Amino acid sequence: MNIALTKEEYESILRIKRDLHMHPELSGEEVRTTQVIRDFLKGIPGVELLDLPVKTGVAARIKGKGEGPETMLRADIDALPQTEDYESPWKSVNPGVMHACGHDFHTAALLGGAMILSRAAAAGELKGCADLLFQPAEEGTTGARQMIDAGLFDVIHPDRCFGMHNWPSVPAGKIVIHPGALMSAKRNFTIRIFGFGGHGSMPHLNRDPIVCAAALIQSLQTVVSRSMNPLSPTVLSVNMIQGGSPVNLVVNEVEMRATIRSLSEEALDRAIERVQTLMENTALAYECRAEIEWKERIPAVFNTPEMCAAAERAAGEVCSAVESAEITDAPPSLASEDFALYRGYAPAFFYWVGSHREGEPEEQLHRPRFHTDDEALYVAAPLYAASAIYGSGAPDAEK
Ligand code: NI
Repeated sequence: MNIALTKEEYESILRIKRDLHMHPELSGEEVRTTQVIRDFLKGIPGVELLDLPVKTGVAARIKGKGEGPETMLRADIDALPQTEDYESPWKSVNPGVMHACGHDFHTAALLGGAMILSRAAAAGELKGCADLLFQPAEEGTTGARQMIDAGLFDVIHPDRCFGMHNWPSVPAGKIVIHPGALMSAKRNFTIRIFGFGGHGSMPHLNRDPIVCAAALIQSLQTVVSRSMNPLSPTVLSVNMIQGGSPVNLVVNEVEMRATIRSLSEEALDRAIERVQTLMENTALAYECRAEIEWKERIPAVFNTPEMCAAAERAAGEVCSAVESAEITDAPPSLASEDFALYRGYAPAFFYWVGSHREGEPEEQLHRPRFHTDDEALYVAAPLYAASAIYGSGAPDAEK
């Protein structure tokens, strides 16, 4: 059986990609997208939709013939709150919302993978089964947790998981297989600093949380520069600060939001410890009180040697079937991915698939002119399918 997309299959998922691109939906609001996915899957022979108590997102299954592993294939489906600036007939019609991360591409690719797997199941070439997961709310890294909490792993019991992200700095056609840490571990946090407000002309009667916050932001810049091993890439950014009043008033409270990313879990541990110490003692020094709210820790996306070997087998089959496909490597990124949470349930591998069209300017993820090369679907869809058909042999050691 040929695992390449047929021309008709390609055209049908390209229509979906363009439709989703035109109608992007924010994290947790992917209602129309969910319906489009469900409707498309209903038209593929052998696809069984699975019941999960979620508002958005879809889980489905394709059963193969005979004994074999259960493989979860995951795509994310949500868009971003930004305005598209790239002209095309399928430019976003939802003001201020855009598929700036290419999750429309991932969704279309997994639907294409489903069509290939349906053929493989009918031909007796898919053993075990493939679980298709269309995950909502990846931006903000809350969707994987929602699916898990909704009982995903009571409904499916995968022996291994594969996910992918398009990668715009890599030419279309290339499949990135990177061993070790590929995307960073992350911990977001919110700090609230409480002072004692009053008249701006009477500092002796007030405790100003703005000055305390300013000092803390400066101190936090030393976490990476003075406490981290420079060989463990780590980033700490304070991305939001709020607190203010008319000019003659000292406020009671300031809030700031920040993120720490690192390719090393140990470095992230150390950074968390430093943030805590700096916050407590800066507050003390400025006679304020501070509270910190840590968000869920997202582990690093990490490709083990065993899962790299499995991914190489699958990608090798795609390279045999699709002329433009080629395996490559690329440097890791400090972006995060909540796909990493699935690694707590089964061995997991994460691909990057090149999405840059030769000759065009490179537009990075989350930029207003970002777009993906349609032709990259010819590689991404079979890569999902091949991962379920050929990506076996991964030991259960990590489970
Ligand atoms: Ni993304």
